[in-house]
Amino acid sequence: EKEYFSEDKSSNIIIFDSSQLCNQASIPSQFFWPQTDLSCSCKQLKAPIIDLNGFLTRDESSTKIAIDLVHSACSDHGFFQVINHGVDSSLMQDALNCIDEFFRLPLAEKLKARRKGQSKWGYAGAHTDRFTDKLPWKETLSFGYDSVASQSVFVDYLTSTLGNGFKEMGMVYQRYCDAMTKLSLSIMELLGTSLGVDGGHYQEFFAESTSILRCNYYPPCQEPELTFGTGPHCDPTSLTILLQQDEVDGLQVFSDGEWRVVRPVPGALVINIGDTFMVLIFTSTSALSNGRYKSCLHRAVVNKVRERRSLVFFLCPRENKVVSPPDCLVDEEHPRKYPDFTWAELFDFTQTHYRADMQTLQAFA
Ligand code: SIN
Ligand code: FE2
Repeated sequence: EKEYFSEDKSSNIIIFDSSQLCNQASIPSQFFWPQTDLSCSCKQLKAPIIDLNGFLTRDESSTKIAIDLVHSACSDHGFFQVINHGVDSSLMQDALNCIDEFFRLPLAEKLKARRKGQSKWGYAGAHTDRFTDKLPWKETLSFGYDSVASQSVFVDYLTSTLGNGFKEMGMVYQRYCDAMTKLSLSIMELLGTSLGVDGGHYQEFFAESTSILRCNYYPPCQEPELTFGTGPHCDPTSLTILLQQDEVDGLQVFSDGEWRVVRPVPGALVINIGDTFMVLIFTSTSALSNGRYKSCLHRAVVNKVRERRSLVFFLCPRENKVVSPPDCLVDEEHPRKYPDFTWAELFDFTQTHYRADMQTLQAFA
């Protein structure tokens, strides 16, 4: 069994040979998760699908509706979906197609873009230390995106690791991240306004950002009831914009004391808030909104029949930016809960300390 995956201790990266692993009768025990963690209610998450068209064209009454929906979703669990978000549908399709193009490469080719050391860039089977010592059933390709860096970084990275045939993919992901950055700033405006903060406050905070783009590829799994594609976790980042492939369920959110399914909606993007924007779990550091909204536990399951792809953009502050709530959110009734921290400090911390397990669930229940 062992030869189909190996561990790079220096970077906590698992090399996952899906073409081999998926053909075994059973999955290796390193992929087993505790049975008590694996249950799901199979109910759908009650989360709004918000039409952003009116807000993006500055229509007052539609904006008010969008703000109210954002407010209730973020007070409940921190998840909602958006449609008419202004991101070109062919760009979204191209970005999903590029996931196929990359993950269908033979392992030896993918390893040319292997993620090394503490780099945010590259291919990995799984990132063990991030959530737990159990292995998730997936492969990932990650990119760092600096909103003020040169426009050629994606193309440069992909062509220098994989060859000139990957120029187009680099251009697609560059354009995709540009579009995500723009959308995330609009959503920051909605979030800020819904919190009673000046709409421009968070936009300004994130005007320069260092985000992450991650392609997730979940191969079919012969024993999906024993494992996760992504284990339960909260995103430590600020705002997550997730593109799910149509038709294949996988994403689940912990809400009202049970796990619920977030079904893909054609053309929609799933939005959730992360720890940096909200309450920071397991550490006593601060969050931008001083704990009024929730960052929510979520996970992804796999299935026997169909592979699944998701493309996730994580908006992050600049590394040295101090994360603290705006003055207008702090008063006697709402004192600062946590000291200041920078995104770089939190990111380092999550690389070595963060664990999501049943205790996390209890804290949310
Ligand atoms: C994640 O939360 O990291 C991945 C979720 C998904 O693939 O749907
Ligand atoms: Fe996540």
